[in-house]
Amino acid sequence: MDGAQLQYEANSLEAQWMPFSGNRDFKAAPRLVVQSEGVYLTDHKGGQIIDGSSGLFCVPAGHGRREIADAVHAQMMQNDYCSPFQTGQPTSFALAEVVARRLPETFNHVFFVNSGSEAIDTALKMVMAYHRAKGESHRVRYVSRERAYHGVNIGGVSLAGMVKNRETFPHVMPNVVTMRHTWTGDDMFVQGQPEHGRELAEDLARHCETYGGSTIAAVFVEPVAGSTGTLVPPKGYLERLREICDEHGILLVFDEVITGFGRLGMPFATQKFDVVPDIITMAKALTNGAIPMGGVAATDEIYETVTGTSPENAIEFFHGYTYSGHPAACAAGLATQKIYDDEGLFERVAENEQYFLDAIWSLKDHELVKDLRGIGFMAAVDVHHDGVPGRRGTQLQKDLFWNGCHIKFTGDNAIVAPQFIAEHSHIDEIVDKLRKTLDQNLHAS
Ligand SMILES: Cc1ncc(COP(=O)(O)O)c(C=O)c1O
Repeated sequence: MDGAQLQYEANSLEAQWMPFSGNRDFKAAPRLVVQSEGVYLTDHKGGQIIDGSSGLFCVPAGHGRREIADAVHAQMMQNDYCSPFQTGQPTSFALAEVVARRLPETFNHVFFVNSGSEAIDTALKMVMAYHRAKGESHRVRYVSRERAYHGVNIGGVSLAGMVKNRETFPHVMPNVVTMRHTWTGDDMFVQGQPEHGRELAEDLARHCETYGGSTIAAVFVEPVAGSTGTLVPPKGYLERLREICDEHGILLVFDEVITGFGRLGMPFATQKFDVVPDIITMAKALTNGAIPMGGVAATDEIYETVTGTSPENAIEFFHGYTYSGHPAACAAGLATQKIYDDEGLFERVAENEQYFLDAIWSLKDHELVKDLRGIGFMAAVDVHHDGVPGRRGTQLQKDLFWNGCHIKFTGDNAIVAPQFIAEHSHIDEIVDKLRKTLDQNLHAS
């Protein structure tokens, strides 16, 4: 710990421009994590912090998993890199099979990328390639949803429905129209899927009427909108989107960057809600956060249409990254997936979901709490703003850290997402620390 403290004091924090952070505020009073193990982090002053959001939803099997570190080390010593263009290495093919086995049976093809943002931009290009191969390049419009988060690359920002993530960047893809988000305010404090709001899917039908369904290429939705504060789809809503897409030949893309790999107690949200899209993006829990990696799964129909309409020996999809299917990431992915299976971690989420949600719902009567939403191992504690939207959330996140708990906030929403290995006592600790921090804030204001 002393070493880390010295290092911090010896060096300035100025050189790094931090992502999605208040740089000046942070650098004046930093919150550094110098160690992590299991469900706990250690800060640079030696304090213990429980990880209430699995990092950024990406470390569900716990920090410091030796099996993953060993697998990465062994892979690096055996084969640290090879070009993924026109050559390959065995671990990426193995991981693609493991991932495909977790998906509905029509999905047998996975394209590897390095993040959720890259997954979204890759999915957009897959959509374009598919329609072009079918002779339907006239499908130039995309539909997304208010309050959506699809990463930060230009494609993802074009689809974004979170105002702050868009307003600085006016030069995005044209022809994107949005549907309303699904938090209607009719159903408050609902665990799981709200009863009301199915009719919001008719926004897609209206876009089809306005623009012509045959001009729409794809609809992008997070099955549960995550970053905006756990907006669980109303009953029947995703089913209705699927129906409308089928009527008009529109591709349905599920952005499962958060919901993929067990967060809802099933491998993917597609199984949880029993609605099968055409493309699924994934990233966060693929490697347990150890090495950056994401993926895009496509149905056989999409893969075969794109590859089958190209000349033999030709590159069929002019897309890929230097680090697509990097050997270290694949080794981490394979070791992670084995942990999920060996330890039955997805089933563990299903078993503990009710305990978790009830623990969160113990905050229901807190004066600062505006709404609670949750499903699986993700929940939003939506807090009343203090006159300036987002200001209270930012303060709460900082105070919570020094009270020994890490939780991701978006605006005034705390997004609680425990690790799948969390015991009941850990869930209690997270909720107790959140309550204490809310109390402090109430008395301070
Ligand atoms: C639904 C969704 N899509 C895409 C992304 C972008 O992922 P990344 O930050 O790995 O680029 C995120 C990140 O939170 C996400 O929640």
